Amino acid sequence: MSSQSDDSLPESETLSLCSTYKETIEIGGRVYQQLALEQEITFTPVDEIERESLDKQHRIFQYIFDERLIFPPIENPERILDCGYGSAAWAFDVAEKYPDCQVIGIDITPHMKPEEMPRNLWLQIDDLNEPFTFQDKFDLVHSRNVAQGIDKGRWRSYIGDCARVVKPGGWLQFIEPYHVVQSDNGTLTDDHAVRQFSMQYSDVLEGKKDVRAAMHLEAWFREAGLVDVEYTMIPIPLNAWSTNPRDRHIGELANGAYKEAIGSHCIYLFQEYLSMTTDEIHVLLARARQDADNPSLRPYIPMYVCVGRKPNS
Ligand SMILES: C[S@@+](CC[C@H](N)C(=O)[O-])C[C@H]1O[C@@H](n2cnc3c(N)ncnc32)[C@H](O)[C@@H]1O
Repeated sequence: MSSQSDDSLPESETLSLCSTYKETIEIGGRVYQQLALEQEITFTPVDEIERESLDKQHRIFQYIFDERLIFPPIENPERILDCGYGSAAWAFDVAEKYPDCQVIGIDITPHMKPEEMPRNLWLQIDDLNEPFTFQDKFDLVHSRNVAQGIDKGRWRSYIGDCARVVKPGGWLQFIEPYHVVQSDNGTLTDDHAVRQFSMQYSDVLEGKKDVRAAMHLEAWFREAGLVDVEYTMIPIPLNAWSTNPRDRHIGELANGAYKEAIGSHCIYLFQEYLSMTTDEIHVLLARARQDADNPSLRPYIPMYVCVGRKPNS
């Protein structure tokens, strides 16, 4: 890992931003980072639509988490690392909440970062699949929704790297959804488009990324030597099917976000690796979106939250 940035950074080893990271390619009306596609790092667009969608997802996360940004008990953090910052929505809010803390974000793409940032936020370009080279230690390493970009065999060493760069007593906070839509009332079958979509998405990433990573986080945290590990699954309803008013509201918010995200996540992959035509993809997406709208299916996405602490000695 050799961080690149166009901002002044707290780390002297950072280099000026190499133009390779800035190059984009337009496919089907969406803009992608060329390097990420060529090197099969990640496959989602990096345009304004994606930036807005990530900002929207962050606001939904904040509603779900009762506006908490950091779950472990950390008082007065000095340094925080956000892995795969995206639009930097989380890192921005953390930097504003803790003005005396250095917040550092890393992402393979610089394209979605905000134009103006708090003075204590630094965003660097790097590949999370490469070993971390940070010298100074962090109070917290945060990683949310990056599974599409972590190589299949990298997860253990990724978590190991995150654990290595936290201070003794410091924390890891990981959040990953499992993208295969679930339902507990027996109505959702593999014939539904929303499931077909998920299966095709899993198939296309097979061998490259671990689509089931969310379910292994607890075991990987313990293998990395972390203690006080807390692991929770939160079902995110995909429409307002719940009788619980809070969950109904989450369902209303998540419905639009899910329907947007499935388009962003699959179009390039399905065209490039499954040779599907644009029309075939749009028909599948339209049917999957109808399923997501159907309250009788009671669809939800399981989202896994895992926190763990590095022992003091
Ligand atoms: C779905 S977005 C999530 C953004 C942010 N963590 C959030 O929750 O709002 C995933 C981000 O991780 C980045 N990413 C994925 N794989 C990466 C990798 N191997 N190295 C660096 N960044 C990566 C992507 O570029 C993208 O910005």
